[in-house]
Amino acid sequence: MIQNTLKLYQAPLQGFTDFTFRNTFFAVFGGVDKYFIPYLSYGKGREIKKSSVREVFPESNTALPVVPQVLFSDEQELFDLVSILVEYGYEEINLNLGCPYPMATNKGRGAAWLQKPEELNRTLTQLYKQGYSANFSVKMRAGLTNDQDFRETLRVLNQFPLTEIIFHPRTASQMYTGKANPQLFADALSLAKHPLVYNGDLFSESDFQELKTILPEQNAFMIGRGLLMDPSLPLRLKGETWQAKELRKKMKEFHDQLLEANSVRLQGNGHILMKMNQFWTYFSESFENPHKAMKLVKKSSNLLKYNAAVVEIFRDL
Ligand SMILES: Cc1cc2nc3c(=O)[nH]c(=O)nc-3n(C[C@H](O)[C@H](O)[C@H](O)COP(=O)(O)O)c2cc1C
Repeated sequence: MIQNTLKLYQAPLQGFTDFTFRNTFFAVFGGVDKYFIPYLSYGKGREIKKSSVREVFPESNTALPVVPQVLFSDEQELFDLVSILVEYGYEEINLNLGCPYPMATNKGRGAAWLQKPEELNRTLTQLYKQGYSANFSVKMRAGLTNDQDFRETLRVLNQFPLTEIIFHPRTASQMYTGKANPQLFADALSLAKHPLVYNGDLFSESDFQELKTILPEQNAFMIGRGLLMDPSLPLRLKGETWQAKELRKKMKEFHDQLLEANSVRLQGNGHILMKMNQFWTYFSESFENPHKAMKLVKKSSNLLKYNAAVVEIFRDL
């Protein structure tokens, strides 16, 4: 039975969920209502990397519902990035208030905003004054170092007509250690005026059931690493079932199409192998012996050996 009320979003993972991945995932699996594009940001010297801009080209994203995201430290940077996305015709733009990496937070970006609510208030006031044609949503963590920062942040966000807020109940200093705390999400629900989307550590159907016992009314979830480990997860959460053999065939189809698409996109076997290696860091978790799968992939020094390794993994593991 397909659960029509359940909304599932694909989380943005810089380096993993690029347009090749998104489009292949959409074609083979799907079950996702919105796909978030990893953040667009300034690089060194206020220049935007060409590869990041390519990610938001409308022609790379025609087949599926996508939401681009911006990572910014101040008004100027925010307006510059938003203007590009508005020009490309995006109707929703997500504001990153959660990136935990010190490289971002030390420069006032991402989760650093959780400690400067007044500046956030001024910046959003100016953003809305610009009258952009796009709507805005937010993706945030619970705090920078203090898991209560979100309270003040939500008080600010409540004053603006955001479409929704994706909330990952961890601090930035936790990075990905420990566990996301659904109780913080429950606290946020009672404070936020906007619809909240739950994000964090949703890896399986049993995680989902557990979350539903703590958050019984919650029907919107964003999945990051869980979807990379098991691309069938969104459809399974929506009630679809497969025989093991059928699922294995679909996983192989997904892998083969991704390899094909990366071969068209990337130049040189080294780049293709590197990209597929990265993909397997999560995808190997779908197999009974992830460590062995990863080892086989890693030791493939060329595409011929890689293809043989993939055949072995799908046959034996
Ligand atoms: C390698 C990596 C890259 C990420 N890149 C982004 C990003 O560009 N923008 C963003 O908002 N979150 C980013 N995230 C965070 C994820 O979107 C998500 O919030 C986090 O992984 C928690 O969800 P999960 O437990 O379902 O994976 C990234 C996470 C990882 C591990």
